Amino acid sequence: MSQDRAVELMAVAEQLAREAGDLVREATSGAVAVAATKSSGVDLVTEVDQAAEALIRRRLAELRPDDGMLGEEDGQSTGTSGLTWVVDPIDGTTNFVYGLPYHSVSIAVARHDGQDPYAWPVLAAAVHAPAQQRTWTAALGEGAFADGRRLENVPATSLGTSLVGTGFAYTAERRSGQAQVLTAVLPRVRDIRRLGSAAVDLCLVAEGQLDLFYEQYLNPWDMAAGALVVREAGGVVRRLGEGEAGFTVAGPAQLVEELTTVLDGVRS
Ligand code: IPD
Ligand code: CA
Ligand code: CA
Repeated sequence: MSQDRAVELMAVAEQLAREAGDLVREATSGAVAVAATKSSGVDLVTEVDQAAEALIRRRLAELRPDDGMLGEEDGQSTGTSGLTWVVDPIDGTTNFVYGLPYHSVSIAVARHDGQDPYAWPVLAAAVHAPAQQRTWTAALGEGAFADGRRLENVPATSLGTSLVGTGFAYTAERRSGQAQVLTAVLPRVRDIRRLGSAAVDLCLVAEGQLDLFYEQYLNPWDMAAGALVVREAGGVVRRLGEGEAGFTVAGPAQLVEELTTVLDGVRS
């Protein structure tokens, strides 16, 4: 794939993330109606999640009619180009509902290579946090950017002095397993942050505002864009285990290695 194409795709991802982000930001001024719950009673979806995904679908149909899309709210449509857009219209819906700024529109475009979206090679990405007016972008082989500034060399400290982002799933059963894992991680690190948007967490790792990130049960749309930002900033994203039950671990190579050893000692 030509580098020009990755950069063009990054521009489309950024454009759509900003357009959807404007819709999300404008909706924040009014009362947000919870439209439904999903995997459990605490897994919220609002009309704004649905409207933002519909906007991205409509705009992709105009700009990239041959591509497919895998979106959190409306599932997968297949295209003919071999590319699929992987979209979380609001990553951090709980924060959005509570008026907390850590929420984002996360858009990645990947080569649709086989049945496993976690394995699709991501070509370009954008994560836009409308309440913070922050945007992270990346194009394969072309680097990662925070608000247009090139990100380089995810800084490494030691595990014991690492500020580690993580997150939790929505069902009680998954959360009790995650609480167990946390008991192994927390005593070994500087501290834990649960900011509420995995896509933003990954971008903060790329920027050095978090040293490391790990989370189990992420969906492809939670991590596809942020993972490319980390990798293009010089960091490593490793998956431990398969599919949805897998862990995602991101940061500088040495710290990912050390955290992986801790997680391997506790994960089932
Ligand atoms: C969630 C956020 C959160 C993470 C959860 C995700 P959603 O996405 O990324 O930080 O801990 O695992 O499901 O539901 O707000 O799109
Ligand atoms: Ca999400
Ligand atoms: Ca979401």
